[in-house]
Amino acid sequence: MIAIASDHAGYGLKQEIMNWLDQKGYEYHDYGCYSTESCDYPDFAHAAAKAVASGVCDKGILICGTGIGIGIAANKVKGIRCATCHDCFSAEATRLHNDANMIAMGARVIGPGLALKVIETFLTTPFSGEERHIRRINKIEQIDQ
Ligand code: RB5
Repeated sequence: MIAIASDHAGYGLKQEIMNWLDQKGYEYHDYGCYSTESCDYPDFAHAAAKAVASGVCDKGILICGTGIGIGIAANKVKGIRCATCHDCFSAEATRLHNDANMIAMGARVIGPGLALKVIETFLTTPFSGEERHIRRINKIEQIDQ
């Protein structure tokens, strides 16, 4: 199950992503927002990130204007590794190296065609499982504990 969420700026691109997820047969839950009315991205980042951190969802997709604010907010939830990516190289690398469990994108940065390719890369690339990457991820989890 994929958690997906956006603010008002990301609402339109989120609809295109959900249509694509439907076509590809991915199951997802939309944690809001539900219109283009102005709203606060941390509210929706938090809801989707909690779903991923708790195991209700395996991965998450977040969309705001830049992909930055909503990604920063998601990373405040323990266990979340959210990468803001607008290219396929970064999306692949963050799965291979960081085992990122959420991706954030900016609807004011990227068009829908490339956004869908980036998301496909994110969803289909496995974690490498290499020891050095596991060690670094474990160090991330230990910061500020
Ligand atoms: C909303 O105007 C915008 O600030 C938000 O979508 C996002 O880009 C914040 O990082």
